[in-house]
Amino acid sequence: MSISGNMKTPLLLLLLLFTLGFLTKTTSSCLAAERDALLEFRAGMNGTLKRMPSWEEEDCCNWEGVVCHPTTRHVVKLKLSECIQDSKGQVHQMINSSLLALTELNHLDLSYNHFYNVPIPKFIGSFKKLKYLNLSNSFFIGGIPLEFRNLTHLRSLDLDNALDPEQQHVGDLDWLTHLSSLKHLDISGLLLPSLTDWLLPSNLHGSLTALITRGCNLISIPVSPSNVNFTSLEILDISDNHFHTTLPQWVWNITSLTHLDLGFAEFYGTIPEAIGALTSLTYLDLSNNYIEGTIPRAITHLLRLESLSLQGNQLSGSLGSWIEHLTSLTLIDLGHNILNGSVPTGIGKLSNLTSLSLCYNQLQGSVSEIHLENLTRLEVLDLSYNYLKVSFDPNWVPVFQLVLVQLSGCEIGPQIPRWLQLQTRIDALDLSNNKIAETLPSWLVNVSSSTLTSLHLSGNQIKGKLPTFSDASRLINLRLDTNQFEGQLDDLFSCNYSSTEVQLPSWSNILELSLSNNKLEGVIPLFVCNWTGLDFLHLSNNSLTGEIPYCLGESLKGLVTLNLANNILFGKIPTTFGSLLLLAQLVLNNNGFSGQLPSSLQNCTYLSYLDLSHNAFSGNIPPWMGESLQGLQVFRLGYNIFSGDIPQQLLLLEELKILDLSNNNFSGSLPYYLGNFTAMASISRSFEFTEYVDLVIPTKGGNLHYPYKSDLTTSLDFSGNNLTGEIPPEIGRLIGLHNLNLSRNHLSGKIPQELGEITLLESLDLSFNDLSGTIPNSLADLNFLSYINLSYNNLMGRIPSGSQLQTLSDPSRYMGNPRLCGPPVSSGCSVMETVDKVQKMRNFEWIWLSIAVVLGFLLGIWTFCGILLFKREWRYAYFRGIDSWYDRILLQLLFCLARLSGQD
Ligand SMILES: *[C@@H]1O[C@H](CO)[C@@H](O)[C@H](O)[C@H]1NC(C)=O
Ligand SMILES: *[C@@H]1O[C@H](CO)[C@@H](O)[C@H](O)[C@H]1NC(C)=O
Ligand SMILES: *[C@@H]1O[C@H](CO)[C@@H](O)[C@H](O)[C@H]1NC(C)=O
Ligand SMILES: *[C@@H]1O[C@H](CO)[C@@H](O)[C@H](O)[C@H]1NC(C)=O
Ligand SMILES: *[C@@H]1O[C@H](CO)[C@@H](O)[C@H](O)[C@H]1NC(C)=O
Ligand SMILES: *[C@@H]1O[C@H](CO)[C@@H](O)[C@H](O)[C@H]1NC(C)=O
Ligand SMILES: *[C@@H]1O[C@H](CO)[C@@H](O)[C@H](O)[C@H]1NC(C)=O
Ligand SMILES: *[C@@H]1O[C@H](CO)[C@@H](O)[C@H](O)[C@H]1NC(C)=O
Repeated sequence: MSISGNMKTPLLLLLLLFTLGFLTKTTSSCLAAERDALLEFRAGMNGTLKRMPSWEEEDCCNWEGVVCHPTTRHVVKLKLSECIQDSKGQVHQMINSSLLALTELNHLDLSYNHFYNVPIPKFIGSFKKLKYLNLSNSFFIGGIPLEFRNLTHLRSLDLDNALDPEQQHVGDLDWLTHLSSLKHLDISGLLLPSLTDWLLPSNLHGSLTALITRGCNLISIPVSPSNVNFTSLEILDISDNHFHTTLPQWVWNITSLTHLDLGFAEFYGTIPEAIGALTSLTYLDLSNNYIEGTIPRAITHLLRLESLSLQGNQLSGSLGSWIEHLTSLTLIDLGHNILNGSVPTGIGKLSNLTSLSLCYNQLQGSVSEIHLENLTRLEVLDLSYNYLKVSFDPNWVPVFQLVLVQLSGCEIGPQIPRWLQLQTRIDALDLSNNKIAETLPSWLVNVSSSTLTSLHLSGNQIKGKLPTFSDASRLINLRLDTNQFEGQLDDLFSCNYSSTEVQLPSWSNILELSLSNNKLEGVIPLFVCNWTGLDFLHLSNNSLTGEIPYCLGESLKGLVTLNLANNILFGKIPTTFGSLLLLAQLVLNNNGFSGQLPSSLQNCTYLSYLDLSHNAFSGNIPPWMGESLQGLQVFRLGYNIFSGDIPQQLLLLEELKILDLSNNNFSGSLPYYLGNFTAMASISRSFEFTEYVDLVIPTKGGNLHYPYKSDLTTSLDFSGNNLTGEIPPEIGRLIGLHNLNLSRNHLSGKIPQELGEITLLESLDLSFNDLSGTIPNSLADLNFLSYINLSYNNLMGRIPSGSQLQTLSDPSRYMGNPRLCGPPVSSGCSVMETVDKVQKMRNFEWIWLSIAVVLGFLLGIWTFCGILLFKREWRYAYFRGIDSWYDRILLQLLFCLARLSGQD
């Protein structure tokens, strides 16, 4: 017995263990129905879900993204964020309602999945226990299902970009009223343009802790606090909307706020002292509005503030009184305001500061190592474009390692700050537009050599050879333009590659390179073709010579901007340019290029800016230019030897704003339907060209130079050709035109009256043509006209008197038209008009009759005239008064005659 008794204990133990094991085995496994539901869901996704190996296991509670209840084993959470592989809409996805088998689900996350052409499934509204729903960045189509009203237990709803902006139609938000448990609501990106009361059902106000309506196209917001009763709100983000009203005052009463974002929302007004009540704030963003006034001192109460973004407003005043008190700050962005005063040294107390941006203000005084010495965590420093003088002790050893250094326009120089040598992780360094005047120190190319991607030294007086970079350079963006660099492009690399066998650096990272406005010589080396990533190449205003490498077109397939203007280059445009399918700006003016336009340019359908002026190109304008290059906005062929007719197809260039065909050998007539240049036929004051284009526009007799990013004015220039025929009256439809030059052709006929409809015209040159008739009175209404030249035509009659034409009083602008009269060429018109009218009458058959009448008249006044002839003083007095009464009598006589002839 004792043995059996002894035996019993381990047996019992075994049994216990077995049952326990059995129990745990059964309870640890997920419910079969739920497992099947999940598999059905995956099948419905048609293979677009990423591979999740764990989903092959038996127990679905162990599957990636699936969380079960610890005891009931029901699936309670489904976290399928970023689970869809990019299917690009090729595959039909269906979110299977089988998921409804997950009856205990309280957390559903489908965020960051790009669903293609799939609406938000209505059945989601039937998950009765759902507390957390995240559909952000999933780009469903359609609207929010009304069934969502049933999600009464929902505490957090994130619909940020849940709907595709292109394919959404959001109705009202009535379903929201039912979600009375909601605390966190993010409906960013739902376009609610008609929603006048954006503030959602007021029953939600009290309980909400987060309200995020970023980019909802909202246009109105209550200003009065009586409609608003947020008492627990911690996060309020209503940025990126179009409120266009004053900052709402009720915001400053929500003392629970920790995160407030009112940026990009078209708010104006001032920041009130009341902001001091928001003592819990850690994040404040009022950037990119129209806020003005000073920054109130009460801001010093926000002692927890870590991030302060006020950039892009019109804030004034100084930093002195407040900034050093906000000691928790890690990020300050006050750029693009009109702040003045100095940068206080107290900024050094902000020991946690990582990012300091004060660019584009009116700050004065000096900044030196004293300001920055304690900022051990500083990574971003942007002081560009103030009136600051930034200078450092050459021996200073900074306590920080910067990532972004923007010190443009800071009067730095003549040396490059020596402390930069010690910075090992700079990503972007901008010292442009300073006073650096040394030759580049050799250490500069090694500054942060393993991290530097952008180096910008434009607009200094740096001398000597170009810096020599190693193949390992990570540079993406190199701008050394507008300096005094000498030597050749070869100098960018240490060996003379053209004569050695050394492997050439591929420099394949480089995207943007600008070496314009230097003193570089030599040819464009073939190794440029190895910079295969290049999209922006500016070598203009140097003394480069030779031809454009043939390989350039074949290799630099991503090239968008090519500017080689103002060099001594020659040869043809390589036919390989037909491979530059992305080319948008091709600027080759002021060189010695020749030959015809290669037909392969037809491929460059993105061209918007083409300047070939001041070269020796020849041949016709091929008709395909109008057909293929329909994006052209600026098209300049001036000062070449192009010939032939101007093809009608040019009128297809509807985007054209500057057309310069001047000083070639074009013949034939002007294109008739000029109104087809629709961009010129609509009013826009000016247009901006995105990047660096060197452009010389001849206006008002002189040249206007647009060296960099610039506003260009619309202009049409056909001058200096052999064009014949009349000026088409259609020209009056180009109401957006600022400059019109048709001079030095053989245009005939009248100046069309319709020119007066181009009300913005500033410069008009019709000189050296065969234009006849009178100057239309309508020209007198051109209020912006500041230059006119009508000289050397056959114009006649009185120069119209009008506000503008008379102030343009230089008579040389009318000379060479012997029959023009009136100010500014002569004081009166009587003699001239008489001669003209008499001449006109000579065409009529009754001329003899009139002569008889005139003779009679003359006889009648002979006595009077005789006296005039002999009495000198009387004669002078008479001719002085000629404008007044003699004119009138003569005119009356002529009228009579005209009436007589009319009755015939
Ligand atoms: C995807 O699933 C649907 C049914 O949901 C089916 O009609 C379709 O053929 C499947 N395959 C693709 C590639 O879309
Ligand atoms: C869910 O919503 C639909 C539509 O709004 C409604 O017809 C249905 O009765 C609701 N179901 C429950 C259980 O509330
Ligand atoms: C605001 O809400 C609180 C409770 O959430 C309530 O006591 C108070 O009366 C409300 N005030 C207004 C003006 O609605
Ligand atoms: C908002 O705060 C101001 C003072 O900052 C106070 O005068 C006003 O009564 C408050 N309004 C509400 C609705 O609490
Ligand atoms: C700086 O940040 C640290 C945490 O990174 C924090 O403990 C400390 O209090 C901060 N200093 C100030 C002055 O806010
Ligand atoms: C930097 O720290 C030192 C030592 O803590 C202090 O004496 C000095 O005033 C600080 N400088 C600035 C600009 O705050
Ligand atoms: C381009 O680079 C490759 C590899 O570095 C080199 O072999 C080739 O000669 C280079 N070509 C030119 C035109 O520099
Ligand atoms: C024009 O582009 C196509 C590719 O879109 C290319 O195959 C063709 O060779 C190009 N034509 C010329 C003349 O370069």
